[in-house]
Amino acid sequence: MKTHKLFILFSGTGSNMINLIRTLHLHEFVDNTGCACRIEVVGTLCNNPQAKGIQALQEFHIPCVVLSHKGLERHEYDTLLVREIKRYDPTLCVLSGFMRILTPIFTQHIRAINIHPSFLPYHKGAHAIKDSFESNQDFGGVSVHWVSEELDSGTIIMQEKLPKITGESLQDFESRIHTLEYKLFPQALLEALGLRARN
Ligand code: GAR
Repeated sequence: MKTHKLFILFSGTGSNMINLIRTLHLHEFVDNTGCACRIEVVGTLCNNPQAKGIQALQEFHIPCVVLSHKGLERHEYDTLLVREIKRYDPTLCVLSGFMRILTPIFTQHIRAINIHPSFLPYHKGAHAIKDSFESNQDFGGVSVHWVSEELDSGTIIMQEKLPKITGESLQDFESRIHTLEYKLFPQALLEALGLRARN
């Protein structure tokens, strides 16, 4: 049976990564020719040695490379990053809360998707949840897109709006964004791979 190999990059809590592992890792799907195939998360990488996600991964026995960016220029880091990823020969690389601006060294050599916690093109960057909460718009959202050279700007794979609730706190809004992420990210990942659930 064909295996689609995923390599996941993260920087912090890793809750989206853990959700992807629980919902997709070693599960079977059907591709667009009707053939059964499976997904395997072959490895992960974190740029932050203190990240909670490193601990959370332990029960799954999936390799985790810790590659700190401290003291490295962006191009130096991305050269090492690309080398590490290629060692695992993934079908697709998944940015799951990987809080780094990537250089062309990465974007030209690695086929990757990214999750972003806003309805793109609104609120690009590292503070998307707070920025959309504080905006005049009556919605936030979640987007999953192909990674391109421009930050948070590649072709959208899937996105969904999240209507704001009057009087809601930032914390509650953030929690609803994460709930939407946990639904949308696995769906978008399957879409990116051309897979669907087995009946
Ligand atoms: C998620 O909300 C993800 O969308 C966001 O970081 C969080 C990671 O949480 N990514 C970005 O803001 C990328 N620009 P997690 O580590 O618990 O999955």
